[in-house]
Amino acid sequence: MRSHTSPPDPVRQELARRTAALGWAAEMQVPTEQGTFLSVLTAAVAPRRAIEIGTFTGYSSLCIARALPPGGQLLCLDINDEWTSIAREYWAKAGVDDRVELRLGPAAQTLAALPVEPTFGLAFLDADKTSYITYYEQLVPRMLPGGLILVDNVFQYGAVVEEHNTDPSVSAVRRFNDHLADDPRVESVMLPLADGLTIARRLP
Ligand SMILES: C[S@@+](CC[C@H](N)C(=O)[O-])C[C@H]1O[C@@H](n2cnc3c(N)ncnc32)[C@H](O)[C@@H]1O
Repeated sequence: MRSHTSPPDPVRQELARRTAALGWAAEMQVPTEQGTFLSVLTAAVAPRRAIEIGTFTGYSSLCIARALPPGGQLLCLDINDEWTSIAREYWAKAGVDDRVELRLGPAAQTLAALPVEPTFGLAFLDADKTSYITYYEQLVPRMLPGGLILVDNVFQYGAVVEEHNTDPSVSAVRRFNDHLADDPRVESVMLPLADGLTIARRLP
């Protein structure tokens, strides 16, 4: 699959190496084919405003930011200054720092402070799994009709179907998957890409 997906460019490759050097945390970064998928989808949707919840060292945000249309903006939410300082460095290296804004703090608070108006054409949700339903509920009224909410790690590496697995993140994602599947405000599809990616389109 990876050998038949467009390869990452040198900036993405360098960021992936830099992230890998962090050790255990590196596994939080989306894999290369998911990064390319985010770019392809962003270019197709051409959102004027996009939002990412969970930025880490910036790999997914870089893929989204680069594919924005002229004048497009990406708002990034994260709680960690150290990891996102790497993201800032690579946004600058890729020449997209003028179209990315980072807000540090608990994402639920940052989202709550945004006007409840439909402004975002694309959202990527990839932060703490136990808050997925909260973030999703905050996002839906802020999405334009037809806007896409992309949700990462919906498989939890297969654990969502292990009935006896009571890990808090796994249980939360299981609840989230049911919550979204029952939501008449969106049309959604769950894709077996990376650790599972759900795409929910806000219905008009
Ligand atoms: C899985 S990583 C994101 C990976 C990133 N999308 C990428 O591809 O490189 C999750 C991120 O969520 C952030 N996070 C965790 N809890 C948070 C919270 N309550 N508010 C905002 N960000 C949070 C972490 O600091 C971490 O950077």
